[in-house]
Amino acid sequence: MKVLLSRDEIGRRVAEMGQEITRDYAGREPHLVGVLKGACTFLTDLCRHIELPMTMDFIAVSSYGAATKSSGEVRLIKDLDQGLDGRDLLIVEDIVDTGLTLNYLMNVLRARGPHTLKVASLLSKPSRRLVEIPVDYIGFTIEDHFVVGYGLDYNEKFRNLPEIGIYGTD
Ligand code: IMP
Ligand code: MG
Repeated sequence: MKVLLSRDEIGRRVAEMGQEITRDYAGREPHLVGVLKGACTFLTDLCRHIELPMTMDFIAVSSYGAATKSSGEVRLIKDLDQGLDGRDLLIVEDIVDTGLTLNYLMNVLRARGPHTLKVASLLSKPSRRLVEIPVDYIGFTIEDHFVVGYGLDYNEKFRNLPEIGIYGTD
């Protein structure tokens, strides 16, 4: 598999993102919400570079079939354990592709009354976007490839690869 982002490149960028978040949230307590399962690897690395008191929670969603995909409707598989009222919410995603999932999630979570809402995504594929959403922290902007590794899967596999590769290449 062709490596798009090496373990070292990812590690360096994730550390930078953590430093940026540390600066931006100084004096506050970010509440990281990871979108299972893809964002798990990224979140656990990222949080170790945030030098602030912080909390974390997880949510799991799954897209409906192709027919409803364009509506951006997603099914909540696992909800958050804690409320969001007054919190400095930072949604942590693996990749923003069409933006439909994140758009839906942001609407659902915004309604729960967080004080602030920002998004951190390791990857972004802007050429695929169907809905414009502000992503406050982007690790890497990539071309329209299907990528796996570092949490990202193809049929639930390859999440454990330490690097990010382009699926279907030698
Ligand atoms: P969106 O709603 O189209 O933005 O889809 C986002 C979700 O689709 C991500 O959270 C991933 O789970 C999945 N996804 C999109 N592109 C890729 C990819 O290249 N590799 C693996 N999963 C992807
Ligand atoms: Mg995901």
